[in-house]
Amino acid sequence: MPFTTFNETRPWAKAIRQSVLSNKMPPWFADPCCGQFSNDRSLTDSERSTLAEWATSGALTGNAVDAPPVRVWPKGWNIPVPDAVFETPAFNIPAGGEVDYQYFVVPTGFTDDRWVQASEVRPGDRAVVHHAVVYIREPGDTSFPNPKHTPTKADILNVYAPGASPDILPAGMGRLVKAGSDLVFEIHYTPNGKRGQARSRVGLKFSASPPPKRVLTLQMNKLDFHIPPHARDFRVTVWGTLPNDALLLGFFPHMHLRGKEFEYNLVRSNGQPETLLRVRPYDFYWQLSYRLATPLALNAGTRLEWVATYDNSANNPRNPDPDAEVGYGLQSREEMMVGFFDVAVDASLDKQSYFIR
Ligand code: HEM
Repeated sequence: MPFTTFNETRPWAKAIRQSVLSNKMPPWFADPCCGQFSNDRSLTDSERSTLAEWATSGALTGNAVDAPPVRVWPKGWNIPVPDAVFETPAFNIPAGGEVDYQYFVVPTGFTDDRWVQASEVRPGDRAVVHHAVVYIREPGDTSFPNPKHTPTKADILNVYAPGASPDILPAGMGRLVKAGSDLVFEIHYTPNGKRGQARSRVGLKFSASPPPKRVLTLQMNKLDFHIPPHARDFRVTVWGTLPNDALLLGFFPHMHLRGKEFEYNLVRSNGQPETLLRVRPYDFYWQLSYRLATPLALNAGTRLEWVATYDNSANNPRNPDPDAEVGYGLQSREEMMVGFFDVAVDASLDKQSYFIR
């Protein structure tokens, strides 16, 4: 339901009151305890009470002369007009069942290196595209995609899931797409009862000149964990130390239906832990990125610890089967523990050279 005019919004007054007072809307899950984020879309207490009072006092129109100018919404791209757009071939989505991840390799045809300052994924059919990840596969890399889904060294260009905002980098930063690279779209379709066909697109806006910093999406994840049946607070931790200096830009936690909380911590050299982001409650249906309002400069050797908590009990209304022991897997009934994080590093580095200590 669009809320772009009074008439569209008025019938929802009660639901709006309820959803903003319960913090269900707008969707945002960073605990205010920790960190400040540039894409924080939560409402202030006074905004919440304005909406709630409007609903309880008859949801009136107010005075037309006080109305703000009519807002013009972008049609299509939310990033500036892209310099290049790449599209997957059409895929036939069945009406039901589980669909394996689909991989579409789309050559860029770039004959020189390009720095991407902004990118946006537009799924072909929003109702059934559960998520899409667009990877940058450098020329000569034949290891990916592969049927075993073994992790790839390819860098991530963009991650789309419902509610995602486009990737717009600060000035002086870009993601590098080398000449001759392919874009690999990984798309997970979740059928919804209707057969369909979809093509998804990614739009790229290039930097005017090569930026001094290169942005990489890194991750710390765990593959070997087993959540016992009925466990309420099962913690899975992963840690590592930064191989080189980096400017930390933001986070994207990923779990499935039993995910309950996800915490990003760093441990200062004096042993003091500091929580950078606490996502609580974690909600599988809102796969969001959290972009730091101020990027954080970290030194090589900084210890990073991510803590995921799962609820495999019947208490968790999302739990598809509390009697199951759950481990890593691609489908939503299985679990994942992935803490993605974006860093900006010297533009001369790539993912491999960044990891040389
Ligand atoms: C102040 C801002 C917002 C208000 C007042 C608002 C209000 C609402 C209301 C009243 C509902 C229906 C809830 C119900 O069925 O009980 C709803 C559902 C929904 N909203 Fe929002 N919303 C806001 C922001 C957003 C944003 C920013 C997004 C996307 C990023 C979003 C996406 C959705 C979706 C996908 C649903 C359906 C969710 C479901 O059925 O679980 N909303 N919203």
